Amino acid sequence: MTALDQFTYPPEAPLDCDRCPRLVEYLNDCRAKEPDWFNAPVPSFGPEDAELLIVGLAPGVTGANRTARPFTGDYAGDLLYATLEKFDFSNGKYDSRPDDGLELKNAMITNAVRCVPPQNKPIGAEITNCRPFLISRMNNLPNLKVILALGKIAHDSTVKTLGGKLAAHKFAHAAEHSFQYNDREITLVDSYHCSRYNTNTGKLTTEMFENVFSLIANQLDK
Ligand code: URA
Repeated sequence: MTALDQFTYPPEAPLDCDRCPRLVEYLNDCRAKEPDWFNAPVPSFGPEDAELLIVGLAPGVTGANRTARPFTGDYAGDLLYATLEKFDFSNGKYDSRPDDGLELKNAMITNAVRCVPPQNKPIGAEITNCRPFLISRMNNLPNLKVILALGKIAHDSTVKTLGGKLAAHKFAHAAEHSFQYNDREITLVDSYHCSRYNTNTGKLTTEMFENVFSLIANQLDK
């Protein structure tokens, strides 16, 4: 990516984005099997004046890829949206569908990779190809103060976006990392991803996830 990219890319990937051949092919397969699903790069969800940006991994095939809203219809969305409600980042009730009337307050959700990857696993080149949209997303949030990275892939992509070194900013659950970015103070907070695997195995409990949101609330209150 050149230095110019961050100014030339839009914050949302175009619906016909063709940067990742493997993901384009997978989306075409999904379109053939499920023509009524969204099957395109999933746009971020939330207001542009948000102070908090939540960075997930990538849409789940039967969830966000179907519904066109991050984490919506995905198992991981149940804990994420419940926690957003508990910490007053939403209005309305999450009901696993994009027309449930839910609105986010002071928070936006995006994904490190905007297209659904096979087996939920984007490859390195796809994460890199999608980063200009993440950079642009951040640059287009004028009040951004805190970024919550859900999992190591989101963490690594965010650290690179903020111009940091991974060796100096290691992923760890509930870790907080400070950055100076475009004359702004940004705090990156890490959490284990709220995936079905992590919650079912107890790697991430509701209490651990809520503790991360308490850290975020403290940062935003500063
Ligand atoms: N759905 C998303 O949109 N992102 C994730 O990281 C997981 C599920």
